Amino acid sequence: MRLDKLLANSGYGTRSEIKDILRAGRVRLHEDVLSDPAFHITDEQARFLTLDGIPVTSSRYLYFCLNKPDNYLTAMSDDRLPCVGDLLPRALQSKKISPVGRLDYHTTGVLLLTNDGELSHRLTSPKWHQKKVYLVTYTGESLTDKEVALFAKGMTLMEAGHAPEKLKPAELTLLSDQQCRLTLTEGKTHQVKRMMAFVGRPVIALHRESIGTLTLRDGQKPGEMYPLTPDEIASLKENTDM
Ligand code: URA
Repeated sequence: MRLDKLLANSGYGTRSEIKDILRAGRVRLHEDVLSDPAFHITDEQARFLTLDGIPVTSSRYLYFCLNKPDNYLTAMSDDRLPCVGDLLPRALQSKKISPVGRLDYHTTGVLLLTNDGELSHRLTSPKWHQKKVYLVTYTGESLTDKEVALFAKGMTLMEAGHAPEKLKPAELTLLSDQQCRLTLTEGKTHQVKRMMAFVGRPVIALHRESIGTLTLRDGQKPGEMYPLTPDEIASLKENTDM
C-alpha cells in the first residue's frame, strides 16, 4: 500500500496533512526517513514504521489512561494554560483523541483519553450509571451520619440564583475526619465540590480514583499515561453494554 494511504487509513490526518508530516521527516522505517507519499510499504515493513519515534498504529480507536496532574486544564489545547493534550505524544495528536468528561484544573487522578466517541458517551451519560470514585479532602467538622444519609438518599442542591437540582444517590464513606470517598453515577459540573459545599465542607483536594472499571496503575505518577490493554478496553465496553 502507498505510505500516504496507510497513514491516512490509520487516522493520522488527511492526505495533504500527511504530505506535510512526511515532508517534515517525521516518519521512519527503522532508521530511514521516508518522505515520499507514494513509497510502497509492505505489511511486514508497516510493523517497523514510526512517527516521531512512536510506532505507527493502524488502530482506529486509541485509549489512554492519564493520571491527570494538578494545574492542568482538561482540554486538548489552550493558549494560556497547560492542558492534558500537551501530555499526549505529538504523533497521536491528529488521531482526534479527547478526554472523557472533565476534571477541574486542580483535580488529579484517572482521566481516560480516547477517540472512541461511543464509549466516551456511555461512560459519561447517567443512563449507563458508570461509577466515578473520588477521594475528597475537605475542611470543617467531620461529616455526621445524618449528612452521609443525605448523600445516600440523593440530595437536592439549592444554590443561590439556581433552580433546585435533584441529584442521584451517592455513596459516601468516611475515611478520616477530613477525608471521604465519594462515588457518583452522574457527572454534573463541579458536582463533588457543590455537594460538599452544600453541607458546608469546602473541598481542598480532589482526586479521582476510578471511572467505570478503569483505575490508575500501581506507581503511575501524575502526568504519566499508559495505553489501555485489550482486556481493560473490553471491560469498559462490557460494563456499558457495548
Ligand atoms: N467534581 C468536581 O467538583 N470537580 C471535579 O474535578 C470532578 C468532580
